[in-house]
Amino acid sequence: MKEQLELILKQGLEEISSATVKDELENARIKFLGKKGALTQILRSMGSLSAEERPVLGQLANEVREKLTSSIDEAAAHIEAKAAELKMASETIDVTLPGEKMELGKKHPLTIVLDEIYDIFSSMGFSIVNGPEVELDYYNFEALNIPKNHPARDTQDTFYINDNIVLRTQTSPVQVRTMEQQKPPIRIIAPGRVYRSDAVDATHSPVFHQIEGLVVDKGITMGDLKGTLEVFAKQLYGNDTVVRFRPHHFPFTEPSAEMDVMCFKCGGKGCRLCKGEGWIEILGCGMVHPGVLRNCGIDPEVYSGFAFGVGLERIVMRRFNIDDMRQLFENDLRFLKQF
Ligand code: DAH
Repeated sequence: MKEQLELILKQGLEEISSATVKDELENARIKFLGKKGALTQILRSMGSLSAEERPVLGQLANEVREKLTSSIDEAAAHIEAKAAELKMASETIDVTLPGEKMELGKKHPLTIVLDEIYDIFSSMGFSIVNGPEVELDYYNFEALNIPKNHPARDTQDTFYINDNIVLRTQTSPVQVRTMEQQKPPIRIIAPGRVYRSDAVDATHSPVFHQIEGLVVDKGITMGDLKGTLEVFAKQLYGNDTVVRFRPHHFPFTEPSAEMDVMCFKCGGKGCRLCKGEGWIEILGCGMVHPGVLRNCGIDPEVYSGFAFGVGLERIVMRRFNIDDMRQLFENDLRFLKQF
């Protein structure tokens, strides 16, 4: 029996040390130490031994089991370490290899200029707010002093969802929404898409972009309006830009004006770009109408404000010499890659 035990130890150690994967190791364990394994069978037959032999061989059998067990543990640790090493080696990244090139897109020309406008107004303390494109008739028209049969609705015909809901024709409704939610001081710009039922041509599109501006506080005057918008024009077009304010009419401002910049191509003499005028219209503006303030729960006896609305496409087209507005919306890469 002693020889049998020694043979088991020898064979066991051999099989364990030759195991290269976990499964092989497990097979060896079952074969020698498992319930039906070689060692267990020997232990079972110990009953037939004499009283002197039993403790001696019993101790030897225990030693064999311990040796096999510890060598299995060792081999398992070794196999695991080997596997981890292999995994690490196979997952190594060669950081010196050239990377895969990603096709980088570009900013759309509308976005380029809009980002500039954000920068200009942010630096003057304005924050950016957004309003819905699908808007209540009340916010788009009524609250801005444009009741149902007002002639100003003619030039701003739009798409009606129903009698009370429209696609907004201007970003001005964001003025009302802001004043309803926020008490003065208010200093915001509100960019976004607006809609009108205009036929598509080189200078018209049923969808285009505006940037609305609104300042409300105690003691705001036309001087603040002119100063702010002149700074805006100079930052956008350069420090030598000359602006003028022309009286105009908007239902929600009083007084109202349009701001022109002196044609930067002909310097005011008149050319094709400015259609012989010498000036190019940039935006509409004015002092917020007391009735509009009142509609929003702001007391016009205490507060005053100015507002303005800029058409983004026109500024972009002039900036990049684009002569057809449709190109801004067709998303032709040959066009967009130029900016
Ligand atoms: N909402 C006007 C339009 O679409 C533009 C405008 C004019 C906005 C004067 C203003 C403003 O805030 O004060 O024609």
